[in-house]
Amino acid sequence: TNLFWPMLVIAYLIGSLSGARLAHVFFRTPNPLTHGSGNPGATNMYRIGGAKAAAFTFLFDTFKAVIPVYGSYFLGLPPIELGIIAIIACMGHIWPVYYRFKGGKGVATAFGSMLPLGLDLGLLLVTTWTAVLYKSRFSSLASITTAGIAPLYVYFLKPDYVYPSLMLCLLIVGRHTANIRRLLDGNERTMDEKHLSAL
Ligand code: G3P
Repeated sequence: TNLFWPMLVIAYLIGSLSGARLAHVFFRTPNPLTHGSGNPGATNMYRIGGAKAAAFTFLFDTFKAVIPVYGSYFLGLPPIELGIIAIIACMGHIWPVYYRFKGGKGVATAFGSMLPLGLDLGLLLVTTWTAVLYKSRFSSLASITTAGIAPLYVYFLKPDYVYPSLMLCLLIVGRHTANIRRLLDGNERTMDEKHLSAL
């Protein structure tokens, strides 16, 4: 439709906003880019700035995807276009136009872009992520596992969206290569490591 291109641009521009960078200013936390893992995301904000800054980051980065995807759905855009808009919102988070394309890993934003598909899917994703975090204390492992299994959930619950969800999850796992290396080497940071380690 003729609303597709404007919604795509809006998704990228909103997706490029950074919850972690805003939380850094609002909550006067250390800079997420130079502390902890160096990643501007909710996990690292929890590590270096505490629960409030992390909750803000997670909610902001989630809803910045819910808005363009749900908005496009409301405007009647077809599934294939909704899928592309969801992916572009996450690409905004990962490669933000306002911050020299230095973004995060896209986990909360991908979650937000899938949330309009249904609360049952959302609940499955949260449960999977939380269970792996609880068992391992590694947010990265929770994210990689959830991204690995999410397309299967989508396949059963919303088959129309299985290809975009596969692309989205590949993008997210691809952003975690450094985490995967650290996990295999046995030196990955847990979510609770509070010390302000340099990079
Ligand atoms: O959401 C990103 C998470 O999967 C890993 O974050 O800071 O441990 O690299 P971090």
